[in-house]
Amino acid sequence: MKKLTAFEIRELFIKFWESKGAKHLQSFSLVPDDPSLLFTIAGMVPLKPYYLGIKEPEYPRVVTCQKCVRTNDIENVGRTARHHTFFEMLGNFTWGSYFKHEAITWAWEFLTKYIELDPNRLYATIYKDDEEAYNVWRNDVGLPDEKIFRFGQDDNYWFMGETGPCGPCSEIYYDRGEKYSCGKKTCGVGCDCDRYMEIWNLVFTQFDRQKDGSLPLLPHKNIDTGMGLERLASVIQEVDTNYETDLFTPLIDYTCSKTGIKYGTDPKNDMAARVIADHIRAVAFMLADGVLPSNDGPGYVLRRLLRRAVRFGKLLGFEKNFLCEYLPILIKIMGDPYRELIDQRPVIENIINIEEEKFNNTLRQGTELFESECRKLKAQGKNIISGEIIFTLYDTYGFPPELTREMAEEQNLKLDEDGFKKSMELQRERARSSSKQKKSALTGDVYNDIENESGKTEFTGYENYKDTGKILALLNSEGRHEKITAAGEFEIVLDRTPFYAERGGEVGDTGIMRINGHEIKIINTVPHGNIIVHTAKLENNITISTGGIVECEVDNERRKAIRRNHTATHLLHEALGQILGRHVRQAGSLVTDEFLRFDFTHHSPVTDDEIIQAEKIVNEQILLNTELKINSYTRDEAQNLGAKALFEEKYGEIVRVVDVPGFSMELCGGLHVTRTGDIGSFKILREESIGSGTRRILALTGMNVINMLQKLSSLKNSLTALLATDEENLQERAKSLVNEIKTMRTEIQNAKLKELLSNSEKFLQHEDINGISIETGRFPDVKPEMLRDIGDKARSKAEACVVILASLNSENACQLVIMANEKAVSKGIDSGLLVKEACVILGGKGGGRKNTAQGGGRNGENLDSALNKIHDIIRKSTGA
Ligand code: ALA
Repeated sequence: MKKLTAFEIRELFIKFWESKGAKHLQSFSLVPDDPSLLFTIAGMVPLKPYYLGIKEPEYPRVVTCQKCVRTNDIENVGRTARHHTFFEMLGNFTWGSYFKHEAITWAWEFLTKYIELDPNRLYATIYKDDEEAYNVWRNDVGLPDEKIFRFGQDDNYWFMGETGPCGPCSEIYYDRGEKYSCGKKTCGVGCDCDRYMEIWNLVFTQFDRQKDGSLPLLPHKNIDTGMGLERLASVIQEVDTNYETDLFTPLIDYTCSKTGIKYGTDPKNDMAARVIADHIRAVAFMLADGVLPSNDGPGYVLRRLLRRAVRFGKLLGFEKNFLCEYLPILIKIMGDPYRELIDQRPVIENIINIEEEKFNNTLRQGTELFESECRKLKAQGKNIISGEIIFTLYDTYGFPPELTREMAEEQNLKLDEDGFKKSMELQRERARSSSKQKKSALTGDVYNDIENESGKTEFTGYENYKDTGKILALLNSEGRHEKITAAGEFEIVLDRTPFYAERGGEVGDTGIMRINGHEIKIINTVPHGNIIVHTAKLENNITISTGGIVECEVDNERRKAIRRNHTATHLLHEALGQILGRHVRQAGSLVTDEFLRFDFTHHSPVTDDEIIQAEKIVNEQILLNTELKINSYTRDEAQNLGAKALFEEKYGEIVRVVDVPGFSMELCGGLHVTRTGDIGSFKILREESIGSGTRRILALTGMNVINMLQKLSSLKNSLTALLATDEENLQERAKSLVNEIKTMRTEIQNAKLKELLSNSEKFLQHEDINGISIETGRFPDVKPEMLRDIGDKARSKAEACVVILASLNSENACQLVIMANEKAVSKGIDSGLLVKEACVILGGKGGGRKNTAQGGGRNGENLDSALNKIHDIIRKSTGA
């Protein structure tokens, strides 16, 4: 057997299939364009349309090494030798150009000739009555009968998911030798132990499973194969587990060097090291493919894995953020061929750090809560963690329930899953009832019915803003109507319309419709499936009926402003890519007639300089007055042209590409200006963070820029008048006024202090406890520095003296300073402790030394009880 690195295996596999006429395609994204899956789970997923015959394959034979993520067994990852979330699948595919004979004999050739596995150690399994596959193995490969095993559907049938391409399969097993055997008499191919390892799955994909379970034939007899790179590497590199291959060892070695553990000596530590190694790969690759942490969908899986990795890191003694330390190592292992890890590194690092930080902040408290709950349960002889606790851990401390389950299992405890569901439902109920959103009484079904009856609405408004349409449906909150007669809000569906329906961040059009000499106001336009729904407002009681013909007129001035903002958004997107780096990726946008909002991934605030540069680039493009080219292409053509596509958008097969020649090209279905000069002007208003490594820019175009400038100019005029100066001196004047105010404030403070110091007796109440003189004072809104000055003076009043000074401001927040002289300290006073205890009652924090301490809290109303507590402690700690 050849000694090969994982990198070499990948290359060799691709080379082999290229020699068989296959086209090598780069790995597709981890996020599939397929609503039935969260992630790409196999090499064939991105190629599904070719299996279904929806799309003609460009190449009849394809080979890939596909990034995959499987999430069905996350809790087992790290526990076992071979479970992973992220993995790479080597695969060869065809849609009719070869079938079982070639798939099997070539696989055999690759394994025995290319990587020189010992043919005596190879076995095959086939679907129980697949005689064709049997004959190939038996006669064409020459495998003896006793090395061909027949299994049923559970083992030898591959399904992509509940629905979709599937078929019987044949698997190739490798015998790793006696020493890996479980030793059972029955140990053989198919045994769960580590001896006979399945390395390659050849699927003869012929069927398309439907929701009802039926299995219609696909247009071709297809081949789909999958061989896990990690597993193959473990065989070739002759190591016990996937984690000992060169894909993982650098990551695990790093864990060992940082934490001092020795891999292979303590199963618990080994598991943690494996969890981190696996999850950092998944997290980094997901982020590189544009997944952002969230509370559902792929983003939730990302968050869950990241948090699981952090928790296992803590078990090994990592303290602060540590996950990003693995990135350079991962890039060294996988940056070639996965360049996205390098290109997206700033985003990956930034988001990991933010997420980790967030979780770190609550992990300790959450773990304390969890542990105290475990202790309580065990003391009571119970073993079920209540739904409320799981919910609190989830909601307040960010523990994914799966994490809590895993922690509970470690303690031999179970979770009250139903109770948790109930708590979640209650929460949703609360959220629903507090939501102010007005809900339509109509469900999607009504719109589906309309679409089924009448087909999709034709949109005619890219070029025009006027058109005539026929009314297909009228709806109000009660449902569909043949006629609408009363004034009020309702919805209109036409067969064709120039009104743009809200989509891709662009707001819907407004305008008017005319019917029989009456005007109907259109206040919004939204899509429902393939129909366009206009929200209309009738001012008078007139009658409108389905079948009627309406003249539509979009508010073209508003729309022009929207066009300006939309094209400017594309220009800004490209400008930011040029200035900040190619990792910048659109994370959302809102294009209205008033402003544009552009959200994008970037790891740090955009500096003033960068903002100025972006404005400059965009305005230069406006001045170039380039004519836009808008055309439709197939998705592949668009991709080859280099058009930007948005990660979260689902595009059809034919895509519209908006091209500002020489500058920006993006897939987009929205409305744009004819020439860049139509935008007029561009100005960024604000840049801010919206969390998780995502920034937001708000900007204006066209007249909105002029309006803003006019406002600024009149503001400047009134300021110069108010401050009695001119434009040149405005800043200086303001500065000197601010300084003047500062000086005056200090003077006032000093005067106040002086007065307080001379009268502080008035504020202080005296009491003797165990021979110590206790001076307690309450002051109105006095700074802690001042309290300390007062305390310093007062504590020398008696031989043993403690001064307790509190100040309450108008919002009832309390500042507390406690000072004790040497004698008092020697009698047992600990000001730090007193402040600490009191601050708990005041709802805040504080502490310090024995002779001086300070703190505060928001609950000033508890000051009396806090003072009582202090006196109590003094009484106890100084009592004889
Ligand atoms: N699609 C097949 C698998 O994932 C090859 O095993």
